[in-house]
Amino acid sequence: MIFLLLFLFFPFNSSFFLLNTQRKNILPLNLNKWYVIAQSNEIKPNRPYNIKILNREIVIWKNNNSFTALNNYCVHRGASLSNGIIINNTIHCPYHNIGFNKKGKITSMPSNFNPTFFPNICQKKYLIYEKHNWVYLLLNKTNSEDHNFIMEDEYYNKKNKCQFFSQIIPQNYQFVCENLLDILHISYVHSFGNKKNPLPVKQFSPKKMNKKSFHQKMKYYYITGSQSLITYLNEKNLVKVESEFIIPNKIVSRVKFGKYVKTIVSSALPIDNKTTKLFVKIYRNYWVFNAVILDWLADLFMEIMFRKTINEDSKILISINTNIPNNLHLSCDQFPLTYRRILKKNKDKL
Ligand code: FES
Ligand SMILES: [Fe+2]
Repeated sequence: MIFLLLFLFFPFNSSFFLLNTQRKNILPLNLNKWYVIAQSNEIKPNRPYNIKILNREIVIWKNNNSFTALNNYCVHRGASLSNGIIINNTIHCPYHNIGFNKKGKITSMPSNFNPTFFPNICQKKYLIYEKHNWVYLLLNKTNSEDHNFIMEDEYYNKKNKCQFFSQIIPQNYQFVCENLLDILHISYVHSFGNKKNPLPVKQFSPKKMNKKSFHQKMKYYYITGSQSLITYLNEKNLVKVESEFIIPNKIVSRVKFGKYVKTIVSSALPIDNKTTKLFVKIYRNYWVFNAVILDWLADLFMEIMFRKTINEDSKILISINTNIPNNLHLSCDQFPLTYRRILKKNKDKL
């Protein structure tokens, strides 16, 4: 009876509801996942490149289009290998010149020492993989099951233009992902948002895209603000937005207006608990001129818009205190909260 009364009086349809969620907002990250760690063009051939993921430093390099990833700190006295040099696909430590090959094995030592004296000592190696201009790394090589390589359909349509960006954001990756799924902030944080009509016109429930529900999709309709580019490109300022998350750190958003689609694919690399490197590719099926100058101008404009948008997000994200218990939830928080719930549910399984 009590449950029935609670059910009848609980304000499911109101614009807000209260819940006692877990106090711990940030969830531990899973190591058995492939993470985007760099754009391919950030890594020059035979030049060590240092990356940080979950507080671990890893040196990577490219030789004949094949990538290698080793623990950055030398097993001898801990010098940073990323300050070394690469000769014949072997990295030489800058401190005492020990050479490690792509498997992390010692292949050369200074003067009289024989590398075969130390057959069991090697630099820790990581699995690394390049796909469509992004470089992925697996922290725990016992499980290479791949969920993060799901490729967006836009990639296969050669009429689309694709641009790659990256940006450091001083906030935890999970909050960066939640922000990418957050509908309401668009109206207040972004210059293209609509403060007069801040809520979506219509919002659908999240839909599972696979059995384990780590990939979900949600649709909504939104009226863009007067400063939005969409208002210039399209007669109507009504857009259909399709948002997706793929646990733990990939977010896809498709903004559809008339015959145009802009697709934003994001992958949030957790550098440490408070820092994220966001990798973004943006596809568009408009402003593709096949003329050098016009395409260059369109790309430049898109890049300026991207930087402006990400700076608007960063200003808020940097200020968020992740320890505040989030007990108040608005109806349009449903999708970021679903992401948080699924992340929590899958943290041990993935
Ligand atoms: S610290 Fe690397 S060779 Fe000595
Ligand atoms: Fe935003």
